Amino acid sequence: MTEDARPLPGFLDLLSADPGYSACPEARLADLRARCPVHADPVTGHVLLARHADARRLLNDPDLWRNPARAAPGSLFHRFTELRPVDPAVPASERTSILMLDPPDHRRIREPLQKAFHARVFRARALVEAVVDSVLAGLSGRAAFDLVAELAIPVPIHAIARILGVAPGRQEEFRRWSERIILTLNPLRSPAEDAEALAATEALHAHLGELMAARRRAPADDLVTDMVEAQAAGAPLSDREIQVNLTALLVGGNLTTTDLIASGVKLLLAHPEELARLRADPALASAAVEETLRMEGPVDFTVRIAPSAMAIAGTPVAARQPVFALLRAANRDPEVFPEPDRFRLDRHVAGAAPHVAFGGGAHSCIGAALARLEARTVFQKLFAAFPDLRLAGEPTPYRRLPGFRGPERLAVVTGAA
Ligand code: HEM
Repeated sequence: MTEDARPLPGFLDLLSADPGYSACPEARLADLRARCPVHADPVTGHVLLARHADARRLLNDPDLWRNPARAAPGSLFHRFTELRPVDPAVPASERTSILMLDPPDHRRIREPLQKAFHARVFRARALVEAVVDSVLAGLSGRAAFDLVAELAIPVPIHAIARILGVAPGRQEEFRRWSERIILTLNPLRSPAEDAEALAATEALHAHLGELMAARRRAPADDLVTDMVEAQAAGAPLSDREIQVNLTALLVGGNLTTTDLIASGVKLLLAHPEELARLRADPALASAAVEETLRMEGPVDFTVRIAPSAMAIAGTPVAARQPVFALLRAANRDPEVFPEPDRFRLDRHVAGAAPHVAFGGGAHSCIGAALARLEARTVFQKLFAAFPDLRLAGEPTPYRRLPGFRGPERLAVVTGAA
């Protein structure tokens, strides 16, 4: 108990759909961290962790579960699974991506996917540079633009389309599917949005199925080829599992990387000294990416489920109770990051404590290297292409998607006549 009579913020007060939270998430999170860093929220049945050390320990614990179907039925996290009826004849691994699976399915699918995807990302530098160059070329000579719509959205979509192997002629269609599939991330979506997302998911699965058949006949230099070759070499993956998890790369990767790019540009433009340091030394782009991930991580939280009763810092956790690591709160924990609300590139030096923007442990983000590569490339090329870039000075509206944070629009002026 705390002596402060104000009610503690609960899980529902920490969603971007709440205007007070959206206006300043840090204020509410700092309040929770100060008054009750391990909070058993009676309304949702979730335990909330606001400290870096507790979040890190939770993420790294290999004995915890992730599959929401295993959460206590009364909890809100479990209720999300009831949004759409499922066909029990279809195995879970063909219905949901690795993000919602536990061992042994999680490891069986993640291992070959991660091996192939990381090898591709490792070689993707020239590809990402070409994508960023072409998007920036389209903006050349413009006096003003919306950086979200015209740069931060197209870069991740075009990069992943090319990594997967989507034909240039199908990329606009691919972009439309990708934008609709992202609606599945919103547990508060309307029935009409749900139907749109489902139709787009089916269309993308069908397209990936065609691509897989084409690559079996004629291999190409892309991730779809890597996956059908891994399967042919004995990786125990069904076609449907490949389609579901390649789709997950879009769902997990596009919007989040958009948010990282837009939030990073906004922070840099709002901190001219740090931007001047980056301009003088473009190698600091990596530090700018890490500091953006720490201060304005695109993902607010991630979750694990306790298989049996346990305690976290003295707070009891019941068997099957969902425990949320509040990543945004952990990344501003003053115990770990001095002056946590200051944007400082110099804090990302060897040996410094890492942020938890990409989660951790068995489920740690599979796309972290790609997101970092895309954001770094944008930071290096954007400020070189537009030396006088400035914020237009309009208020920045933030998207209302629960669990995520990023500008909906970011108006910039270039100084071009
Ligand atoms: C800045 C951008 C990104 C952020 C902040 C982010 C954040 C996260 C977080 C917090 C998780 C959950 C980790 C956990 O529970 O411990 C996750 C998982 C995942 N992310 Fe990302 N992500 C980003 C970009 C990407 C990209 C570019 C891709 C793919 C192209 C991607 C694909 C995935 C997948 C497939 C998972 C599930 C991994 C698993 O459960 O084993 N993400 N991401």
